[in-house]
Order: sequence, then structure tokens, then C-alpha cells
Amino acid sequence: MDEPSYRIRRATGADAGGIARVLTSVVAERKLSAIDRAWPADEQRTYLLGLSEREAFHVAETPGGAIVGYQSLDRYSPILASMAHAGQLGTFVLPEWRGRGVGRALFQATRRFADAAGYRKLVIFVRAANTPAQAFYRVLGFAECGRLTRQVILDGDEDDEVLMELFLDRVSGGSQPATSP
Ligand SMILES: CC(C)(COP(=O)(O)OP(=O)(O)OC[C@H]1O[C@@H](n2cnc3c(N)ncnc32)[C@H](O)[C@@H]1OP(=O)(O)O)[C@@H](O)C(=O)NCCC(=O)NCCS
Repeated sequence: MDEPSYRIRRATGADAGGIARVLTSVVAERKLSAIDRAWPADEQRTYLLGLSEREAFHVAETPGGAIVGYQSLDRYSPILASMAHAGQLGTFVLPEWRGRGVGRALFQATRRFADAAGYRKLVIFVRAANTPAQAFYRVLGFAECGRLTRQVILDGDEDDEVLMELFLDRVSGGSQPATSP
């Protein structure tokens, strides 16, 4: 049987219900995210409509119109100009759609947007217990750069938050290659 297809596109306010369903499913797994309560559709809609022009929200949609995954790109700090070059990601894919390229396809779209919007680095916080997500981000080029210990307490269980970052500059680390005088 052929793999069901999906397409990646920017989200609109009308996607709030589908996005809320994806997040509700992931939050119910309890081990993957620090989010303890999925935002309902009306709150998602408010968030989507409030995104600035430097923020993006992409969804993966089946031909039947079902949202099966999404990725958000927010400014790391909505108020500090000194951090305007840094973005923060969130990625959520329904269990039955994982491992089928949805996350990678979402990131390709986010990456294009981030480059065009002038971001220089992306940051992600991942729960230490969520080793599959850490592996996913590593494959995309992110590297672990820190850890907040015992940062999450969910259902009585403590967990660390792993910080990962990706520099978008073409030259690794943003430095210039050495040149001869
Ligand atoms: C983590 C997540 C976003 C990855 O999305 P996905 O659609 O499953 O990932 P893809 O199929 O696009 O995989 C891309 C690459 O990531 C790596 N990867 C993905 N899932 C992996 C896993 N479980 N273990 C190891 N590597 C994995 C693979 O190398 C893969 O490359 P390949 O296809 O060449 O093998 C998705 O599994 C998910 O939504 N998980 C639950 C929510 C979550 O943990 N979100 C992150 C919170 S910070």
C-alpha cells in the first residue's frame, strides 16, 4: 500500500481545532513535553492570529484536510532586540505519523522562513526523557548546549530540560574563514 501523503503549508486561524487535537494527543503521552495542559482551540486560534511577521507556524495536512503535525517558530524573546536573531522551535506529530518524514518536511519549511526572516540561530528545549526528539533535532543539525536540571515536575516525576541550538550561518559557528593578508 502507498504511504498516505501530506503537504506542508502555513497555518491559519481555521487550523486551530486540528492543531489543538495534535497537541492534546502529545500532551496525553505525558513523557514527551513539559506542556501539562493542551491549549484548547480558541486559545490556539488567538495565538495563531497574534503571530508577528517574524514568526511562523507550519502544519502537515493530509489530502482529506486532517492536521497530523505542526512546527512553530517563535522569537526567543518577544521583547529583546538583542535576541532578535534567535528563534525557538516546537514540533509535534501525531504518533501514527511519526518516523515518516513529517518532522523533517516541517523543518525544511521553517528553515526557509527562518533564513528569509533573518534568524541566525534556532533554540529548542527538549525534556531529557524524550531521547527520540533529541535524536531528531541532532539529525537536523542541532547540538546540545546546556541542561536545566530538575526543571520539569509532571505527575510527580522530575525531569531535566536539555537545551539544543543550531546556528544558521553558512560558516560553522558564524566565524569567518581565515584569509591570507
Ligand atoms: C520528534 C518528532 C517531532 C520527529 O518528527 P518525525 O516526523 O517523527 O521525524 P521524521 O520522520 O521527519 O524523522 C527525521 C529524522 O529524525 C530522526 N528521528 C526521528 N524520529 C526518531 C526516533 N524516534 N529515534 C531516532 N531518530 C529519530 C531520524 O534520523 C529521521 O531521519 P531518517 O528519516 O532519515 O531516518 C516526532 O516524533 C514527535 O512529534 N514526537 C512527539 C512530540 C515531541 O517529542 N516533540 C518534540 C518536543 S521538544
